[in-house]
Amino acid sequence: MSAREEFDSWAASGRDKGMEDRHWHTAKHALARMPVEAGETVVDLGTGSGYALRALRETNAIGRGYGLDGAPQMAHNAAAYTDDDDISFVVADFDDLPFADGSVDHVFSMEAFYYAQDPIHTLEEIRRILRPGGTFYCAVNYYEENEASHEWQANISIPMTRWDRQQYREAFREAGLYVAQQDTIADREIDIPPADAFPTDDWEHREEMVARYRTWGTLLTVGVAP
Ligand SMILES: C[S@@+](CC[C@H](N)C(=O)[O-])C[C@H]1O[C@@H](n2cnc3c(N)ncnc32)[C@H](O)[C@@H]1O
Repeated sequence: MSAREEFDSWAASGRDKGMEDRHWHTAKHALARMPVEAGETVVDLGTGSGYALRALRETNAIGRGYGLDGAPQMAHNAAAYTDDDDISFVVADFDDLPFADGSVDHVFSMEAFYYAQDPIHTLEEIRRILRPGGTFYCAVNYYEENEASHEWQANISIPMTRWDRQQYREAFREAGLYVAQQDTIADREIDIPPADAFPTDDWEHREEMVARYRTWGTLLTVGVAP
């Protein structure tokens, strides 16, 4: 199954909204840290339901938001969730970003970057479209230190890149981005049942669930264009 088919089927079955609900727990903290100023242009890579741009329009009054997604059904749904004329949705692949050199102030991505089939090239594309001093806020839950995430690859036919924290930093630098910050954002909102509730349908041991959400959570790497 292609990425387009896979994610179109997710959108058609309402998983876009389910992802929004779950990812918001940590994505909102990453978004709150972005040095976005009123009137600026932000691109959201792998936008899903488009919630990140809706939030940035409300809180930071960004001028333009472009939600890029490779799955037409995702982009179609995202467009239906807003009537804001200053947010647009674009169907395109991470390999070839349809924006002019230096035309974007900031790029955000939550739980999507690791689907890039040539991630260094995608980082080079991000660097190309960012203006000097523009930032890339890259948030992922699927990464090496987050051991509970490793099994996700078995459930999806698209190859996923599982880097560790250092590999993210090295890749950003290889693509010409400075690394301004890197840390993990714990998910403190997800309900973790008491020990006697385990095993659950999803978790064998409570410790594994605590590690997944509270210890590791979301890895945020922030790149800055020179
Ligand atoms: C796990 S979802 C995350 C969606 C949203 N950012 C969120 O936090 O809920 C990943 C998204 O990336 C998109 N995607 C995956 N690979 C892509 C690619 N190579 N090019 C463009 N979009 C891609 C998918 O269609 C999907 O909407």
